[in-house]
Amino acid sequence: NVTARLLLGENCGSADEWHRNTLTTKQTGWTKGSPLASVPKHIEHFSKFSPSPLSMKQFLDFGSINACEKTSFVFLRQELPVRLSNIMKEINLLPDKLLTTPSVQIVQSWYIQSLMEILEFLDKNPDDHKVLGEFVDALVTIRNRHNDVVPTMAQGIIEYKEVFPQDPVTNQNIQYFLDRFYMSRISIRMLINQHTLIFDGATNPVHPNTIGSIDPQCQVTEVVQGKYGRWNCVTFFFSSSHVGNKKSQPISIVYVPSHLYHMLFELFKNAMRATIECHENSNNLPPIQVMVSLGGEDMSIKVSDKGGGVPFRRIENLFSYMYSTAPAPQIGDHTRTPLAGFGYGLPISRLYAKYFQGDLQLYSMEGYGTDAVIYLKALSTDSIERLPVYNKTALKNYKMSQEADDWCVPSKEPLDLANFKMGK
Ligand SMILES: Nc1ncnc2c1ncn2[C@@H]1O[C@H](COP(=O)(O)OP(=O)(O)OP(=O)(O)O)[C@@H](O)[C@H]1O
Ligand SMILES: [Mg+2]
Repeated sequence: NVTARLLLGENCGSADEWHRNTLTTKQTGWTKGSPLASVPKHIEHFSKFSPSPLSMKQFLDFGSINACEKTSFVFLRQELPVRLSNIMKEINLLPDKLLTTPSVQIVQSWYIQSLMEILEFLDKNPDDHKVLGEFVDALVTIRNRHNDVVPTMAQGIIEYKEVFPQDPVTNQNIQYFLDRFYMSRISIRMLINQHTLIFDGATNPVHPNTIGSIDPQCQVTEVVQGKYGRWNCVTFFFSSSHVGNKKSQPISIVYVPSHLYHMLFELFKNAMRATIECHENSNNLPPIQVMVSLGGEDMSIKVSDKGGGVPFRRIENLFSYMYSTAPAPQIGDHTRTPLAGFGYGLPISRLYAKYFQGDLQLYSMEGYGTDAVIYLKALSTDSIERLPVYNKTALKNYKMSQEADDWCVPSKEPLDLANFKMGK
């Protein structure tokens, strides 16, 4: 693979160098018309467009009443390069030492390859059925290529941390980048999944009412109870409530069940681990309780454990990609649950919640236990994709340097009040 070789080559230094390398035909032996030589130009062009966030309603319309493969194709061959290019601009802004790790270089080469494969379709005829079929195949190839982006990127962070000491500014930059990068990835996969699932001509045999990956009547309580996958777990009590008296009615929203399942899986895993570790010597494990509540604006799910909690000071760090407490897993070890052990459970789950304008928060009482709350939008009209856009503000955030704190730093030495004594 030419792209990968170039990016892994010795000459790949900084982002600027990467641009130079890509354009230097002498070193690589590419002819002037080489498709790779034009990659930076395409990224430049497409990153000037803002991504177009879709609402849940638009996703549903796209896949039902207005289902038209041709329209979806024409939209995606523009929108996918826009989303890819916006985030590729930001990859290039990463600190050199991280950008040049072999893992990040591989990820970058996947993005370049996929961008080029979609651009092939720009001058193809949307009325040609063969073209539409080839497009679906290309999307499936791209989706598979990017399967391992999260663990590979995580590996890059580990490689970087092994060699360079952590500093707060770099940590902040990497946190900022990865939140945007993984959010962009979630959104790109959503678009690809919708197109491939809706236009492959088959209905989902298990969930015939779903539109692509969206369930217009996603039964939240059923997902909580493990309908979409078994919870390998201790028993937990379950209660659901509505605002008002409609207690017996099931709670449903328009949502992507697999996203909800992902978040709950991670929260249960954490709650169970904390419960078991906290009550190691006891025969009775306190239950993990779940509360589901539907209001006019929010649909909230609270997972409560009595697993001893976390000190307040640490809460923010639990969402950090850099401060993960978990030991690094071996990459390529497929016997483990995907991603287990990177310490990415909470940050990625929070991104899933935020993707459709929700959130995920942790409320903990050290010495007792933790409540983790997922907030989702109750109304599909409020569920609109939340997407990063590359612009001047984003650029400024990467250029931030460490400034002096505007709050006093307490001195470690006790103040010697004798210095203030007035002579008699
Ligand atoms: N319910 C909880 N009770 C106590 N500590 C928790 C709880 N949830 C999370 N934590 C702490 O937060 C840390 C980060 O959680 P996170 O899910 O992001 O990563 P992880 O569980 O360490 O690894 P992974 O989820 O990737 O397997 C955990 O290691 C744990 O120390
Ligand atoms: Mg976890």
